[in-house]
Amino acid sequence: MLIDTHCHLTDPKIEDVRRAIELAKMVGVEQMFIQPTDMEDSKRAVLVAEQEKLYAVVGVQPEFVDTVTDIDTLIYQIEELVGKSSRVIGIGEIGLDFYWDKEKKTKTKQMEVFRAQMELAVRLKLPVVIHMRDAEEEMLSVLNSMEKVPRGEFHCFGGGEEFLKRVLEKGFYIGFAGNITFKSANELRRMLTLVPLDRLLLETDSPYLSPEPLRGRVNSPANVKIIATAVAKELNIETEKLIEQTGKNALCLFSLDI
Ligand code: NI
Repeated sequence: MLIDTHCHLTDPKIEDVRRAIELAKMVGVEQMFIQPTDMEDSKRAVLVAEQEKLYAVVGVQPEFVDTVTDIDTLIYQIEELVGKSSRVIGIGEIGLDFYWDKEKKTKTKQMEVFRAQMELAVRLKLPVVIHMRDAEEEMLSVLNSMEKVPRGEFHCFGGGEEFLKRVLEKGFYIGFAGNITFKSANELRRMLTLVPLDRLLLETDSPYLSPEPLRGRVNSPANVKIIATAVAKELNIETEKLIEQTGKNALCLFSLDI
């Protein structure tokens, strides 16, 4: 089953959401997991998931921690949204990102917001979608300090080999997006070959990271097919086999029986 496990369908760059979903279905994409940026966007994501019979995760991204004024309130709001809809399948995307904050001024807040959402996922027994960019050390420090980590995935993987090893050991799945097709992505393609097939997920991260030859354009869930083909070629397996396995992985991680 071809699934785009990570798309931002509520992003204004996707002008016609229904059309994007239709186009994806026309090329054989059977499911899409919608990812929000903050709590307001989480509500929109759940609405689209319900209307279009898709699925969504809810939570606050590291780049949007400014929208959080009180962590207890945030956790209450997430829990409420989870309880409201059977279309919510996890907490995400959450994580740590110091790419835009080299001086790490937001470090304390990012780590608090991330940790609180991770603990909620453990309590609710829900999987997490984790975003990590330029924050390997901090990420491992949070994971290592938790008594129990939730199951989950590192989406649009961007870490090094040692980091990959550590998170695989902790049971996490690994998602790859359109940047796997970029000419300069040799190291990322090497990371891909180190991920066991039963831990691999496919995603577009649309509207960002359009795969070659569409790089620079607005990305859409239909392009997960291009990513599947590129990943299969890199792993030297048949595209159909890859689609079947990664689909199974996604359903297993998010406890879906569809
Ligand atoms: Ni994303």
